[in-house]
Amino acid sequence: MASVHKTRLTPRTSDARDFSQSRILRPKAHALIPGGAHTYSKGDDQYPEQGPAFIARGKGCHVWDIDGNEFIEYGMGLRAVTLGHAFEPVVQAAYKQMQLGANFTRPAKIEVDAAEAFLNIIEGADMVKFAKNGSDVTTAAVKLARAYTGRNLIAICGDQPFFSTDDWFIGTTEMNAGIPQSVVELTLKFRYNDLASLGELFDQYPGQIAGVVMEAEATTPAIPGYLKQVKELCEQRGAVLIFDEMITGFRWHLGGAQKFHGVVPHLSTFGKAMGNGFAISALAGERQIMRLGGLDHDQPRVFLLSTTHGAETHALAAALETIRIFREQSVVEYLWRQGEQLQALVQRSIAENRLEGFFEVFGRPCNLVFGTRDQNHERSQPFRTMFMQELIRRGVIAPSFVVSFSHGDLDIQRTGEAVHEALVIYRKALDEGIEKYLEGRPVRPVNRRFN
Ligand SMILES: Cc1ncc(COP(=O)(O)O)c(C=O)c1O
Repeated sequence: MASVHKTRLTPRTSDARDFSQSRILRPKAHALIPGGAHTYSKGDDQYPEQGPAFIARGKGCHVWDIDGNEFIEYGMGLRAVTLGHAFEPVVQAAYKQMQLGANFTRPAKIEVDAAEAFLNIIEGADMVKFAKNGSDVTTAAVKLARAYTGRNLIAICGDQPFFSTDDWFIGTTEMNAGIPQSVVELTLKFRYNDLASLGELFDQYPGQIAGVVMEAEATTPAIPGYLKQVKELCEQRGAVLIFDEMITGFRWHLGGAQKFHGVVPHLSTFGKAMGNGFAISALAGERQIMRLGGLDHDQPRVFLLSTTHGAETHALAAALETIRIFREQSVVEYLWRQGEQLQALVQRSIAENRLEGFFEVFGRPCNLVFGTRDQNHERSQPFRTMFMQELIRRGVIAPSFVVSFSHGDLDIQRTGEAVHEALVIYRKALDEGIEKYLEGRPVRPVNRRFN
């Protein structure tokens, strides 16, 4: 492939970008909404000061902020928008359904249609229940595991960042104000790719661990055989294995990371990509466990995900259409291919700027992320901020390099160009000091105890 660095595309400079409307709206947002946003990871403390604070609209992988600046976006709705913003067939499917009514006194037929379509792709699961958020379905999986086993403790993978907004998980993070210690004590942590660390928990708490919650894979590749051994260990010790497929689902493989790795958990949870941004999530799994939430058993009943909006019809229509497009247009293969292309461009810029050990791009190509380190090779939020700031100057919003079906070759090429220029500055900041290049305060992790 020809070097993209030789063929400069549209020149993009900071001068062309005005963020005055964003600056004006910011204080109002903070006065009305705690944190200024309804999702922490979209908040001001996660992005450089010089940049768009509010988005007006999106199309494909492009977004326009309220000042009219255009950007190529990565991550796209916290990885929910896998096909693209305002993706016409999905919008049309949802709209058509909306015209028939959003919610009724009895179930809509589309609830059964969507369940059937979903279970056709998640091969190991017998039953499914839909909800609105990933957090709710993962919490429901935990409750089901407790009810099924009659045990209280939950083991989570401590190397993976997020499973739920609910107390059983957030209680284990630094941002745990308002959560009773008695709840926190019910969640234990093991290490990824380290079977012995899970085994030790089972030994330490014999007969007490109800379920094991993990992503089959996040940014560290699974050691061959590890996931299979985790499942075997869970079965030996009578615990329920729960894969959180919020990120991996519809991305590693249409059938999830469980299909990609060939290991079927007892329960799994999905969300994000399955509705291309419409609010829908799913708890799926073995009939013998799932049925505890049903009407055909004589055990104590589990109150499983019964919510007013859980089966909102247009979100189900959006999911059905999203599944159809994924099946018919090899979306997953496309995500991997575009990710590989971008990864190659970034790797080349890293080499050209002698940034090995300072800037890295990693993860599966369908879910690429980057890491920033300072002159002492320590993880650095100031360098992360400065890198994002320089990308924004060049028309790219990238908290990660997570691509969608709408990231075309030209978008990838432009991004490669922007990354290259940002990394030239990264090199200078390493050599001359970050203070000279970072404008404003650095970003900070969401899950911190104090502001
Ligand atoms: C792996 C994982 N699990 C669960 C969740 C929670 O999903 P939601 O934000 O839809 O509640 C997230 C959200 O980012 C996630 O990344």
